[in-house]
Amino acid sequence: MRQTATSTIAGRMLTATCLVCVGILTVAYCNAQNLDVVFVPTPRETVDRMLQVTEVGSQDYVIDLGSGDGRIAIAAGRLGAKALGVDLDPARIQDAQANAKRAGVTDRVSFRQQNLFETDLSPATVLTMYLLPSINVKLRPKILDLRPGTRVVSHDFTMDDWKSDLTETTNWRIHMWIVPARVAGKWQVRAGNRAFDVTIEQTYQEFRGTASMDGRTQTLRNTRLRAATVEFTVDIDGQAATLRGVVIGDRMQGRSAGGTEWSATRS
Ligand SMILES: C[S@@+](CC[C@H](N)C(=O)[O-])C[C@H]1O[C@@H](n2cnc3c(N)ncnc32)[C@H](O)[C@@H]1O
Repeated sequence: MRQTATSTIAGRMLTATCLVCVGILTVAYCNAQNLDVVFVPTPRETVDRMLQVTEVGSQDYVIDLGSGDGRIAIAAGRLGAKALGVDLDPARIQDAQANAKRAGVTDRVSFRQQNLFETDLSPATVLTMYLLPSINVKLRPKILDLRPGTRVVSHDFTMDDWKSDLTETTNWRIHMWIVPARVAGKWQVRAGNRAFDVTIEQTYQEFRGTASMDGRTQTLRNTRLRAATVEFTVDIDGQAATLRGVVIGDRMQGRSAGGTEWSATRS
């Protein structure tokens, strides 16, 4: 009995010592490579789901930040997309290149040894990541500068107060965002033969605002923004008008639910 208790304690101490050693070695490896996060592969079914929710297809250019053994970029290539994986660790790049060759996707999937923070994200239509919450947040301003409609999916980690457009946590943990157009500011709106001013405050893909017409101010209702598609309701001459349109830089344009053409320019 006493011997069992002693060997249990010894076993626990050995396990704890091993865990500490693994931790020290991991930190040492990360430091030697300047890595911000160690390699942990995303399970295959999670990879498949990440590419499903972002609807990756042959029109897409996928960038996987911190690409590890290349599994996400290669799976995107198998769906017909062009893909780029960047990783700071040369051993990972070698593995990924060998895996891409084996998968027969080298015509559209490539890997580059590069710091993810120095990577040009602008060609991406889809961005995939399995990093850390702090890294996601550091990347966030760059992500918000991407073309409206760019899909971003993160295995496991969120982007702090930028609420995801989709989160799944039952069989895997993934979060997906769609980069919203920038709509904040003062707009001069023309809807049919009426003109009025709109002021918008934006928090990521949500916005609120007011419209000033004939010396009266009202709150915008039913505000919606998805990628570059914008929608809000205002009362025009006592009638509710739902204006739906697209944002193209400093211009919005579209048709109201009743068919009236409208446009807006940011001042
Ligand atoms: C958790 S793994 C994810 C691998 C792969 N994306 C996946 O989901 O299976 C993170 C990867 O990021 C790489 N990495 C860490 N810091 C990096 C940096 N600053 N720039 C580029 N890659 C980095 C690591 O080498 C590692 O392969």
